[in-house]
Amino acid sequence: MKKRKLIIDCDPGVDDAVMLALAAAHQEQLEIMGIITVSGNQDIEKVSRNARDLSEFFGMKAPVARGMDRPIVRKPLYAPETHGEDGIGGCVLPAAQKTEIRENGILFMRKLLEEMQPEEKASIVATGPLTNIALLLRMFPETAERIREIVFMGGSLSGGNVTDAAEFNFYEDPEAAKIVLHSGVPLVMCGLDVTEKCTLTRKQILKMCQWGSPAAKLCGDMLGYCLENSSEKYRGEVSVHDAVPVLYLLHPEIFEGGHKILDVDCSEGTARGAVLGGFRWWKNETEETNVYVLTDADKKKFQEYLITSLYELAQ
Ligand code: RIB
Ligand code: CA
Repeated sequence: MKKRKLIIDCDPGVDDAVMLALAAAHQEQLEIMGIITVSGNQDIEKVSRNARDLSEFFGMKAPVARGMDRPIVRKPLYAPETHGEDGIGGCVLPAAQKTEIRENGILFMRKLLEEMQPEEKASIVATGPLTNIALLLRMFPETAERIREIVFMGGSLSGGNVTDAAEFNFYEDPEAAKIVLHSGVPLVMCGLDVTEKCTLTRKQILKMCQWGSPAAKLCGDMLGYCLENSSEKYRGEVSVHDAVPVLYLLHPEIFEGGHKILDVDCSEGTARGAVLGGFRWWKNETEETNVYVLTDADKKKFQEYLITSLYELAQ
């Protein structure tokens, strides 16, 4: 079967790291063309170092390029309380041998898309603020036709995790989210509506640490950091938000969703980063929309596929 061409844009970040491990476990189905980093969970230096170290540790040959070091308009906010000062929960892994592509990550993404055969398209998985993707589409609108779809973790129609209204990636760069939502590119939104149902329990995380393989222990230790240090400690399980876009590409059948017409609040008020829409159902009957919003997942299947993938990577 022909591999799916894939570009990953991320801000590792613990759940981004598990997403990279999941993608690394499926390189027979995914041709990972490149990994681009964006300021989000931590600053661009840290997330880029993490992307290099993690991708090499998980056996991914994909080149790493550094994207934007701040949102389009707003000041960067980081999330040390969830991901640690280093972005990966204080876990230590060997420093990568591979160096970063010197080219700016947005220009590198454009190059990857334009170097494909004329009839080819690539999927993009985005698990950080959408800053790089928005600027790619604004600076080089012709790249939109080379994109099969953008499957992103971000937004929420059912309340936020940074404020009551907004999810972190959309809160961090609401202008970028607005640009991408209105880009016309086929989008799959993996917001908190679905990712909060895609969790691993304390027991599953502890078992992962005991498998005896470095890759599994690293993922278990990073998730354990989230479990003990973030708001996840109050419910005893961790949402692996960023694994959802990759698992959607591999097993779309375990998810449910619907097409919705959405917008993003770009004010500086209490609704900053909130996703608006999806409630005036009749609009979906009368207007085209490019956004497919995931609203539910088979939690058991999510856990089974993720754990099995990490176990297989560990072999
Ligand atoms: O709200 C969760 C999202 O914000 C995840 O992508 C996490 O890594 C953080 O970036
Ligand atoms: Ca992320």
